[in-house]
Parts: sequence; structure tokens; C-alpha cells
Amino acid sequence: MSEILVSGKQFHLRNARISYVFELVGDGIPAHVYLGRRLESLNSPVSQLFCGAQDEDYFHNTLALEKLPQEYPTFGHGDLRHGALDIEDAFGGNVLDLSYVFHEIVSGKPALPGLPASFDQQGESKTLSLVLADQKLGLTVTLLYTIFNDCDVIARSVSVKNDGTAAVRLNRVMSASIDFEDSDYSLITLSGAWARERSIDCRKLVCGIQGADSARGASSAQRSPFMALTRKGTDEDCGEAVGFALVYSGNFSATCEVCMYGMTRAQIGINDYQFSWLLNPGECFQTPEAVIAYSWEGLSGMSRAFHTLVSAHIVRGAFAHARRPLLLNNWEATTFNFDEEKLLKIARRGKEAGLEMFVLDDGWFGHRDDDHTSLGDWTENPRKLPTGLKGLSEKIHAMGLKFGLWFEPEMVSKDSDLYRAHPDWCLHQKDRTRTEGRFQLTLDMSRADVCEYVENAVASVLSRAEIDYVKWDMNRDMSPVGSALLPKERQRETAHRYMLGLYGVMERLTARFPKVLFESCASGGNRFDLGMMYYMPQAWCSDNTDAGSRCLIQYGTSLVFPQSTMGAHVSHAPNYQTGHITPLKTRADVAMCGTYGYELDLNTMSEEEFAQTIQDVKYVKAHRDTLLYGNLHRLSSPFETDLTAWMVVGQGEAVVTAIRMYARPNALTQRLRLKGLQEKADYLVEELNLCLSGAELMRYGLPLDFPAGDYQSLRFTLKKL
Ligand code: GLA
Repeated sequence: MSEILVSGKQFHLRNARISYVFELVGDGIPAHVYLGRRLESLNSPVSQLFCGAQDEDYFHNTLALEKLPQEYPTFGHGDLRHGALDIEDAFGGNVLDLSYVFHEIVSGKPALPGLPASFDQQGESKTLSLVLADQKLGLTVTLLYTIFNDCDVIARSVSVKNDGTAAVRLNRVMSASIDFEDSDYSLITLSGAWARERSIDCRKLVCGIQGADSARGASSAQRSPFMALTRKGTDEDCGEAVGFALVYSGNFSATCEVCMYGMTRAQIGINDYQFSWLLNPGECFQTPEAVIAYSWEGLSGMSRAFHTLVSAHIVRGAFAHARRPLLLNNWEATTFNFDEEKLLKIARRGKEAGLEMFVLDDGWFGHRDDDHTSLGDWTENPRKLPTGLKGLSEKIHAMGLKFGLWFEPEMVSKDSDLYRAHPDWCLHQKDRTRTEGRFQLTLDMSRADVCEYVENAVASVLSRAEIDYVKWDMNRDMSPVGSALLPKERQRETAHRYMLGLYGVMERLTARFPKVLFESCASGGNRFDLGMMYYMPQAWCSDNTDAGSRCLIQYGTSLVFPQSTMGAHVSHAPNYQTGHITPLKTRADVAMCGTYGYELDLNTMSEEEFAQTIQDVKYVKAHRDTLLYGNLHRLSSPFETDLTAWMVVGQGEAVVTAIRMYARPNALTQRLRLKGLQEKADYLVEELNLCLSGAELMRYGLPLDFPAGDYQSLRFTLKKL
């Protein structure tokens, strides 16, 4: 069971596998002591260990705080590293003396007001609220720590309350900060761009500040709200790794500052660049939640901790553990160029292939025949859909398929009735150009009236047609950021207020339509984060559906996210983004490690390809519990070799996938060693008709006899005997 032990000034959070320890030093400053494998006890007062100081004034009267590993440091009062909290008081001052006031421990995991956050339905986790205050200013800072029972994760967040008499400006409020006593780590981040999201970047820590951030208004494809610190020698399965991720979808920063003494300060939270928040007396600011995973079993251990967290404590609703419908999306088949007849023809062929849901993508509303118009006007185009969404959805249902629909609710086109009626409803700054992205503007979700419009527009469509699934898209970053309703001194609150408004809309819509499966999308994977996952159990990984590119994208994504969250579809070859021609089997094998579907018109396939598609769909249906919810093991990294391999282990079976990018002439057969099996159990490898023990499969491995040609894949199905 997870527990929080308090002895003297020491707080020890632990579960069966990990411990997190901090102590109060001086007049109540929380000092970080330990994050690692479980300890029974830790008899090592930090004040002696790091500074040799017993004296209460020691920390405040010298620059000793600079040498103290802390839990929630501030700048300018003995510590000149970047603080976790930076304020401006009524006199322009920034000094804070935060010290312990009281603490409370409860079972379970409290929700965070207005924000997505991990939850614990079983009540097996424990949460500590550590209340600190700056008495002079009357600022109360509550650090929230939760230790989970079933995953090696600590959740942290912070609330700042102004109990004083004057307004305080918050210029920086990190969700979590940990000072590690050395810097002998490598830093891993996930970076990329549209169509090449979440590449694994790794470099050794150096003196100074390094990390990842976004100021684009979305968590972004450029850099994910995640970082990991790994020890020298840490690999996929061995060695220490500490992963940080943010349950948030907007601007963030995740940084490590290595100081002159070689300590590492790791911080994650809302990006302070372009941010500030005015806190009037009586008001409270709540940060997003940070989740920190600790593993001594390499990156795979870190990913296991995150995957369990996501499945058990982030994803909610009827679909959290449910089978997801195998879908057919018309986007790459038709783009904007369709009518009801064409859609029904595509859907019918999907049904023949065994698919379960037809999704109508962009272009069904207003007079949208290209991406220049109509966002915001969420009424059907009668030319394309003469019987409306109601008629179309009924016809799709009559075929025995579910029906899904695309929206981009946060956007407005200049050419729209909405924009003509409310030109000030978009993010903008007075008398400045309203920069367009994909010919559209971003609605100002920091405004209650805009949120109400968006919620009603989506709800009205969901109520008037039979809709089982929503693809919630967001296709541009925010710029310029500003709100017509906020006063001058609050303009830099806009981006975070936007997220709060958006989360409110998502909370109400998902509660009102609990039977609808929501998938988030943002030009593919521009907002693939834990915040979105709290409302929408799956997300479109990338607009790049090339099987080769997807090996990298899905492999990188899997560092934090389990396969049940990753939208992955088979699409046309040559691929629209890369021009690569990959075998249909490879495209299917790669997409199977995700929420499976197709992005093409199956009518254009040859009979042979269609027959294979029927087989692939059958295979996914037969193994989908394993494919979606089995434990994922990465076997070979596309970031290191031209062999990508992973496997998922479910109840009594496992599916192994290997993809080789380029044919190698005159090469010996490679062997692939498996993971996660039971050593003593026997397994039938169906495709080879071979019976091998778990030990043989994990130590000796399976032969990889790829067919000739580039981008070939192999799939093995293991049945436990
Ligand atoms: C984005 C999405 C695509 C598709 C288009 C439609 O790019 O990522 O999947 O929905 O918008 O405009």
C-alpha cells in the first residue's frame, strides 16, 4: 500500500517500490532528500548532509540556500538559481520567505479545480498537502503530493492563495521542482514538428539551463511536455530514469538547471515566457499537475509507470478500458470533395471489410469546399448532405456501422457568419494584424460567451444526429495572443485562461454525451498530452501515416503513452506526406499498435489488397484486447537501427511486430529477443508453427526472415500453452 510517513521534520512518501523523501530545514524550508527505490527508513537529516548547518538562521542569513536541494525554491533570497515561484509584490519586490505552516494527509487523490488531473477511484493512493506561507505578504502556497499504489509515480501540483491585503503578480509558478544533488544525467526530450512528432532526443546535461518548452498556445508537436533524466548506462531495461510530464495542453516548460556546484534543478509547469497572473486578495491560483515517474528498470520501467498512470488514473469514461471501434475516415480519400452518395459508397466498402465505424472528416458544414471558409458555422452543407447529418448518420447506422464526425470547435474562418457577427471573438491584439494560420483565426476561449457558443454549437449537432464519435481538431497555434475582454494588466493571462475555458467546455460536453467517444487531434499530434487525454481517451498521433515515419512517431510517443491512446490508421501508398511506397501489410502491422483504422477509399484497392484488408481487420478484432491494452515492450529502436520492433503481451497471448526499413543484401538472419513473457511457460508461435518456452524466446529469440524489399514487416502471434 502507498503510505506517507511523517517523523519529526521528515516526510516519506512510498509505495511497495519507490520512496520520495523531503525534510524541513531551518525555519521550515522543505529540502529535497531522495527519490528512488523504496527505503525502509532514511536516517540522514539533510541540513547536516548538505550544509553542516544546525542553526535556523543559517539558511536565511547567508547564501546557503544556493547549496540546499529544495522542493519549491524561490529566487533572490540566498538562492540565485531559477525559482519555482516568482512574484512581484505591491512594491515591485520579489523576495519570498516560504516556510512550513501545517500539513494534512488524506487517502485518495483530490481533483484540481478547473483542470485535468490524475484521479484514484480506488482510494489507494495517499495525498499530502504541505502548506507554506510568506507571513509578510500573506501568501499561502500549498504543495500537493500524491503517491500512487499501483504505479511508480508521484503527482505534484501547487496552489497559491493571496491571504494578504494587496494584489500580487505571479510571474512564474512551476507545478513541481526537484533539486538532484548531482548532474551525472542525460536529458531525454521528445521534439519534432508537424508530420514528424515526438522524436527521441538525448544529450548529456551540461552547466546551465536546458530542456523543452512551448509558447505556441498548445503543448505542441515541436516539443512535448515531458522530459526524462537518465543515469549513465541507463538503457531500455536497466538503470535509473526519472520522467516528468505535465497534465496540461498549453504553454509549458520542462527544464534542468545545472548549477555551479553540479546540482540539477528539474522543473516543470506553465511556461513563464509571456505569462503572468494578477492575484487579488482572496484569490487562488492552481497550477496544472506534474507527474513524476521513477524507474530503476530503464526507460521501459518509466514507460510502464506512465502507461499504468494513463490507463488507471488519467483516461476517464465509458471508453477508458473499452474496445475502440475500428474506423474508416474519409479525409485522405476525399478531402473536401464529397457528397452523400460518395460517402455511403466508401462506408459500404468499409463495412464489407469488417470495419465498425465511418468517420466524416472536414468539409461537411457551411460552404466549406477548401480550408478558407466556414469554421464556426456548424450547420450542414445541404448540397453535400441533402438529408443532413441526421439522414446520413441514420443511413450509416442502417449499414451496421457507427458514425463519427469531425469538428474544429476552437476556430473561426474570416469567411463565416460567426466571424461576421462577432469579429472580436477571436484571439487578437488591438489594432494589430490578425495573423491567420491555415486561413483561420483562433476563438478566444478565455471568454465565457465564446465557450458557451462553442459548447452549444457542438451539443446541438450531437443532439440532432446519431453521432458515436467526435474527432476534435485544432489546426493552428495561437498568435497573436490577446483577449478583447481582459484588462491591460491581465492580457498575459489569456493563454492559460483559454485552456481553462477549453477544459470547462470539454468537461461539460463529455459529461453530457457520455456515450460519445472523443478523439483529440491538432494537425495530427500538436496537442498529444495528458491534459487532453483526461477528456478524450485517444488522440491522432500524426497527419503522417507513412508506415516508416510512424515507426519513429509511435515509438517516441510510447515513452509516455500506451497504445490505446494512439490513433494509427492504414493509408494510401504512395504516402501523401512522404511519397514512400510501403507494403499494405506493413502499414497494417504498424497501425495495429494503436487505435486501428483506415484513411483511404477501400474501393480503390485491388481485389488482392481488399482480401488482405479483410484478413487484417479480422486479426485486429481477434487480438484487440491485447493490441490495445496489453503491456507494450519496445524491442528495437528506429532511432538507433533500421529495425523497429515492439510487442504487446496480453492475457495468454502476445503479438510481436518487426519492421525493417531497408533491404540488406547478403545478410544473415537476425534474431529478435522478446520480453515480458513467462520464462517457464510454453508458447506456440503461430506463424512459424513453432513451440518455444518463454526463456527460449527471451534469451535466444525469434528468427527475422524478412521478405525481399524495403519497408517489410513481420508479425508473430504467440499463444501461451
Ligand atoms: C487536420 C487533421 C487531419 C484532417 C484535417 C482536416 O490536419 O490532422 O486528420 O482532419 O485537419 O482539415
